[in-house]
Amino acid sequence: MSRAAVLTGLGTFVPPRVVTNEELARTLDTSDEWIRTRTGITQRHWAEPGTATGDLAVAAGERALKSADSGGVDLVVLATTTPDHPCPATAPEVASRLGLENAAAYDIAAVCSGFVYGLASAAGAIAAGIAERALVIGAETYSTILDPDDRTTSVIFGDGAGAVVLRAGDPAEPGALLGYDLGSDGSLKDLILVPGGGSRQRAAGTAGAGEPGPRPADSYFSMQGQPVFRHAVTRMAASSLAMLDRAGWAPETVDWFVGHQANVRILHAVADQLGMARERTVVHLDRVGNTSAASIPLALADAVTGGLIAPGDRVLMSAFGGGVTWGSTALVWPGVVAN
Ligand code: COA
Repeated sequence: MSRAAVLTGLGTFVPPRVVTNEELARTLDTSDEWIRTRTGITQRHWAEPGTATGDLAVAAGERALKSADSGGVDLVVLATTTPDHPCPATAPEVASRLGLENAAAYDIAAVCSGFVYGLASAAGAIAAGIAERALVIGAETYSTILDPDDRTTSVIFGDGAGAVVLRAGDPAEPGALLGYDLGSDGSLKDLILVPGGGSRQRAAGTAGAGEPGPRPADSYFSMQGQPVFRHAVTRMAASSLAMLDRAGWAPETVDWFVGHQANVRILHAVADQLGMARERTVVHLDRVGNTSAASIPLALADAVTGGLIAPGDRVLMSAFGGGVTWGSTALVWPGVVAN
């Protein structure tokens, strides 16, 4: 029988500083009412200046390892849009800080789809015998790349991290990831973009949101909201259906849809397209905003801790993000307690 990746630990961390809609409305031409009705978000957490993605990743990773049955891991996959440095990857330092000496470690850059890509990548390594146990982390500090004067992005994104531990196991056991649907369309790369700082375009000195000092505009995150909205709904719905087909589940038999927490209207539109009751959609973005690669594990942990997701429940996860990229996976919840 083939080896599956089985979820055995779950941990999260959000930085303590809460930024409310009202606080943003003091400096931006926006309002609590607009943000709530157009996105579903009421607040987000932003890291204090000086806190990096790696710091959040270590905190969530530590909690996931504590939540797992036992033992370390031999692979660390970190999904992020906001690495600590352009070079090297953030994952090796996170692994080292977690005491995971000699673990293979690399970053995945699939923006908001990063966590699902990370799960698939780690599960592939486990299935191939490259790894026995893996820590998959989604961690972001979007506050460091948001343009503080851009109301179309600053109100949407938040900082945070979520992590799971996967171990080699049997495809029939609860917690086994039941397959993957991944895809991309790079012709749409300009929809979600940080133009500078890579090999195509250099970027000069930077300062994060809330930090003093000028920043070149090309180091800011930019997004074309409306087309992203449309593509997110279409791609997440199609990818979810492909995944459900692989799992052999009819949409109405799914207990919980844990979609990427971009916008509550996107989540509901996807549920409608799948023919699932909207009540089956896990909504966490109201309290943390869109945390990109961290959003699915954060939403999952919130639903588990809040008693929504119970052992034996059928859980479908689906994401859409920059690239553009999308991905879905599914599992029967194994009874893991979130930390
Ligand atoms: N506060 C007040 N008004 C705002 C605003 C804000 N923060 N942001 C935009 N507006 C204004 C626009 O300027 C526009 O004004 P106009 O009609 O005078 O031109 C109006 O609100 C409507 O803007 P629009 O972009 O059409 O709003 P929308 O309903 O599409 O909502 C998003 C904007 C960004 C919330 C929505 O498009 C979205 O969620 N997109 C997906 C984002 C996402 O999830 N990205 C992550 C990757 S998946």
